[in-house]
Amino acid sequence: MEHADLVILGAGAAGLFCAGTALAPGLRVVVIDHAAKPAEKIRISGGGRCNFTNLATSRDRFLSQNPRFAASALSRYRPEAFVALVDRAGIAWHEKTQGQLFCDGRATQITDMLLARMRGAELRLGTAVTAVRAAGGRFEVQTGDGTLSAARVVVATGGKSIPKMGATGFAYDIARTFGLRVTETRAGLVPLTFAEQDLARCRPLAGLSVEARIRHRGGDFRDALLFTHRGLSGPVILQISSFWQPGEMLEIDLAPDIDVAQALKAQRSKAGRMTMATALAQFLPQRLADSIARDEDVADRRLADQTNALLQTIGSRVNRWQIRPVGTEGYRTAEVTLGGIDTRDLDARSMQARQVRGLHFIGECVDVTGWLGGYNFQWAWASAQAAGEAV
Ligand code: FDA
Repeated sequence: MEHADLVILGAGAAGLFCAGTALAPGLRVVVIDHAAKPAEKIRISGGGRCNFTNLATSRDRFLSQNPRFAASALSRYRPEAFVALVDRAGIAWHEKTQGQLFCDGRATQITDMLLARMRGAELRLGTAVTAVRAAGGRFEVQTGDGTLSAARVVVATGGKSIPKMGATGFAYDIARTFGLRVTETRAGLVPLTFAEQDLARCRPLAGLSVEARIRHRGGDFRDALLFTHRGLSGPVILQISSFWQPGEMLEIDLAPDIDVAQALKAQRSKAGRMTMATALAQFLPQRLADSIARDEDVADRRLADQTNALLQTIGSRVNRWQIRPVGTEGYRTAEVTLGGIDTRDLDARSMQARQVRGLHFIGECVDVTGWLGGYNFQWAWASAQAAGEAV
């Protein structure tokens, strides 16, 4: 049987970073992935430009059953440290908004940097890991190509999002095998879908984007909202999807800077001849204004003829639009998996299983999920650094 000091399962963001940190003279490090290429999610991330970190990283940007858990790794490996690596590699980048850093060029530059950083480790692609078991104070890692004996194992096989790209729930299976708890998992940072009666109204708006604010269960986001053929998407929806639970109603402000009822009343005396559709279009894209005015049967009616009660109804429809999504697009398109390895069973400094010496879990498989905006990669780097230093 082959022997290694450290076997890392998964050659994604966390696995590659961990290998680079752990490398030391005389240490045999093997990274295994069933995909044909490493870090496929980095390649497609950030629209192909990889939003590789966020300068505003702090533990309140992450969801977890234990929000304090991530603080240790995140404070010891800061976004600035990763930016320094990117600078040293000569990769040009820019800040988009709200601390989000993107490559100027292709996302694969980040993968190339990670591969160069772990030179000296062995990378085995196209090799599925089928099981891990404890054997005489070491671990046996079963792969499609045979079994490896390892002193330490780092599990970095990610979550369930985008199975088409090789995502599996394998990390959770290994965790359970070793007696670790796994919290409930569900799709996060994902578009929301509507029931047929809501779709009938919204489908004609597909492709339309509007700035919106949504507050729900402690989440409070303001960003673009996109109407789709199946429901809603856009950054503000992806963000709130991680807070929303099935069955819940969302209240959406489609004109966050304006009290639309008040504004319409103020205009009624000055410009009462305009139609309701035109009046609403001062605050909303025309198609959305038309749709709301038509729903209330007043699209071609004069503003001057409308009662306070009607203007109040229309104002509520814009500033407090209530909608109950039926679900999400699921793991098929979700950017992340919420939930995962229960942090109560991991040591926050080393990411090692409390009850299983030498077994670590890092990255997305852990119950730590960032907001949209580069936070998930920062968690991958920080948790990988913590484990890489500990091994
Ligand atoms: P990751 O999923 O990257 O890697 C896991 C690896 O394990 C994969 O290579 C997989 O093939 C392998 N694997 C799984 N099961 C296996 C098995 N049984 N045997 C062997 N190998 C196995 N985040 C962010 O911060 N900024 C961004 O711009 C984006 N953009 C973005 C876009 C899209 C479309 C998605 C889907 C996701 C993002 N993300 C993101 C999220 C980010 O990609 C994600 O959080 C990290 O990739 C997680 O890194 P991990 O290394 O933990 O898992």
